[in-house]
Amino acid sequence: METKPLVFVTRRIPEEGLNLVREACTVRLWEGELPPPKDVLLREVPACDGLLSLLTDPIDAEVIAAGVRLRVISQMAVGVDNIDLRAATARGIPVGHTPGVLTEATADFTFALLMAAARRIPEGVDYVRAGKWRTWEPMGLLGVDVWGATLGIVGLGRIGTAVARRARGFAMRILYYDPTRRPELEAELGVEYAELEDLLAQADFVTLHCPLTPQTRHLINEAALRRMKPTAILVNAARGPVVDTGALIRALSEGWIRAAALDVTDPEPLPPDHPLLSLPNCVVVPHIASATVSTRNRMARIAAENLLAGLRGQRLPYCANPEVYREL
Ligand code: DGY
Repeated sequence: METKPLVFVTRRIPEEGLNLVREACTVRLWEGELPPPKDVLLREVPACDGLLSLLTDPIDAEVIAAGVRLRVISQMAVGVDNIDLRAATARGIPVGHTPGVLTEATADFTFALLMAAARRIPEGVDYVRAGKWRTWEPMGLLGVDVWGATLGIVGLGRIGTAVARRARGFAMRILYYDPTRRPELEAELGVEYAELEDLLAQADFVTLHCPLTPQTRHLINEAALRRMKPTAILVNAARGPVVDTGALIRALSEGWIRAAALDVTDPEPLPPDHPLLSLPNCVVVPHIASATVSTRNRMARIAAENLLAGLRGQRLPYCANPEVYREL
């Protein structure tokens, strides 16, 4: 009888994906609520043919080297900055990810963050819960207008573009910065290309949608924050380390910018006593931009399909290191 491939799944994922994997593989599932520690990864991967990972798992060169039988790594996320892609490629291991299916949910959530900070929704909720709501206040909890404001999008990929489509409905002027100029989107959506410095100086809202790479780490540093308007709001639904946290704390406490709304942070998670959490002008939520039932189901299914394709020796439907196929 043919033996099924052995796979390690680093956390319980939606059944829609897990069941597909279970039908074709022998599954070792990490049942912990928190990610498996690295020593668990190092212990599990040597026997495994496949690894289904999450963005919280450090799949570094050491883990990849330990996976002597690994034929595929499939991550249930679009971002793969936690995986050493170069090490995987050098070993001939394709890495799967889940682009596309989370674009609209993440763009919706980006707008939710932007609106929450602009209109001070979390502060309003706290105010009511604290019993402070005694009357209608002519000057209470005043926010800033979103309608007709200028939006600066850093990274006009799938999610950045979906955010631009929403911004058109708010009559916003839309600037974008991206290493690749997108004339077709400029024509279709009326977005205007700007150098990063100009975008930062002009935007009322700056929203980040670039991957985390050595080039984008701390892209929003002290100099960048100081270029922004004192009335501007920063939104980050990309990756925490794109922003220099120390500089952001100073920017928010000293009024270089008005507010920030963060789905992602550095470090992640933030400890409960972290200074960002004591700032009333900072909205922080726990990396939930893709967290809708249907989106997470679709992400799990694609992660399973990538995993199974890799185990069968087929090209992954969504591969984060396509160069692996050239080097084979
Ligand atoms: C991703 O997929 O990279 C997001 O950060 C989580 O959905």
